[in-house]
Amino acid sequence: MKNICVIGVGYVGLVTAAGFADLGNRVSALDINQERIDHLRQGILPIFEPGLEEVVRRNVGAGRLTFTTSYAEALQAAEFAFIAVGTPEGVDGEADLQYVRAAAEAIARAMNHPLIVINKSTVPVGTGDWVADIIRAHQPESIPFAVVSCPEFLREGSAIFDFQNPARTVLGSLDREAASKVAQLHLPLRAPIVITDLRTAEMIKYASNAFLATKISFINEIANICEALGADVKEVAAGMGYDPRIGRYFLDAGLGYGGSCFPKDVKALTYMAQVQGRNPHLLAAVMEINDDRRRLIVDRVAELVGELHGATIGLLGLAFKPNTDDIRDAPALSIARLLQERGAQVRAYDPVAMEGTARLAPSIEMKPDPYALAEGCQALVVCTEWNEFRNLDLPRLCKAMRKPNIVDGRNIYDAGEMRQAGFHYRGVGRGYNDALEAKPAAAAAAPGEKRR
Ligand code: NAD
Ligand code: UGA
Repeated sequence: MKNICVIGVGYVGLVTAAGFADLGNRVSALDINQERIDHLRQGILPIFEPGLEEVVRRNVGAGRLTFTTSYAEALQAAEFAFIAVGTPEGVDGEADLQYVRAAAEAIARAMNHPLIVINKSTVPVGTGDWVADIIRAHQPESIPFAVVSCPEFLREGSAIFDFQNPARTVLGSLDREAASKVAQLHLPLRAPIVITDLRTAEMIKYASNAFLATKISFINEIANICEALGADVKEVAAGMGYDPRIGRYFLDAGLGYGGSCFPKDVKALTYMAQVQGRNPHLLAAVMEINDDRRRLIVDRVAELVGELHGATIGLLGLAFKPNTDDIRDAPALSIARLLQERGAQVRAYDPVAMEGTARLAPSIEMKPDPYALAEGCQALVVCTEWNEFRNLDLPRLCKAMRKPNIVDGRNIYDAGEMRQAGFHYRGVGRGYNDALEAKPAAAAAAPGEKRR
């Protein structure tokens, strides 16, 4: 049993705190948001994350997990302090480190015994050294400490599973004794542990996210080409994915990546490179392809509907991915804005993300279920692949609509079944389906030849 403090109880911090408590440690979870802490003390979670409530309840009940807003209280017995505060996008695409700075200063002022500070937030390369400088500069008296980078790789929607079953643990520090103590803490998770220096660990996080974002933009590029040539990107991805050098993961074409991490992390890595005089061409293309996805979907809706001005369009799903209520950089919100700019009325349904969206985008009308959403719509757009959308009563949905158009931004439906149910169906990168709906071409060119 170790004493741990976790600073910041958002998606990463709360999962980390609950996860380590569940491994038998005593964890004090701290946040500067008083309301968040008050709610957590009453058993109300600030986020929707499958399985998290149960783990929190179990460990609060066992006395292993407590919540506070006081750094002095949280650090009193702690041997380890995890920093898990936000690092949002700054004005020029850089990571905004104001919360990390505040946390480091507060740690320095409150610590009264040696401490291992572990950075879990995604931070620019060099931040670990900077955090050490801040702590040193703000300590009222010199107390030994070490800084270890331990980037987080969990995904929202499966965060508890990911905490308990990490693919690897990455630890970065020049203080090998501190790194090996942090490694001990992670041993019960039985994952490979990579111990390296601070900067390399920080880079592993950005490189991992940028690589996954690249895979998504790559398959979206292929989807565009599939559409033009009459191939089906879903089957292309499946066929490619059997090759272990490629792998099937992160080859789902669609609306592009959203969320609180890939967009900001690819930008932050680009910024870091540019500040050093490098020109990250590939990352620029990854972002450009991703931005195009949302415009492309809106154009597709316009193709089906005709005139967007005055049309009513329903969005199936708002969260940036299923099993979360997170709408930070959600493709659905960009699509809503683009549709509204072209004069459409936008309404939406999402199982858990409507409350947050209504606060952020009050112009989107919320509906209580997919059928109420479809009522009178000229088109539906699947923005989030929630499981409950996979088995809808298609004839009922079709009948409710003013025009039975569906743009499936996540390719969750079978094109043939949709046509049979009476829909005009357009997926993403499904050229074969589009060819079936289109009129035969007047004169065929040889494959690969320029069209005349
Ligand atoms: P979040 O916004 O959900 O939570 C951050 C929390 O930190 C908030 O509750 C906020 O009140 C608190 N906070 C801010 N300043 C504080 C301070 N000085 N002291 C104490 N608490 C403070 O953020 P998140 O999504 O959990 O992300 C945290 C970090 O982890 C980011 O760097 C992110 O890039 C990274 N990350 C996130 C995920 C994810 O899936 N969300 C996955 C891997 C890594
Ligand atoms: C991602 C990474 O997967 C995590 O490893 C990482 O820890 C996290 O970012 C982070 O650094 O915060 P997350 O953003 O929760 O996790 O969700 P993902 O499942 O990676 O999806 C990100 C976005 O990509 C979503 O909008 C999703 O719809 C999209 N996506 C994903 C695709 O468009 N196609 C795919 O094949 C996969």
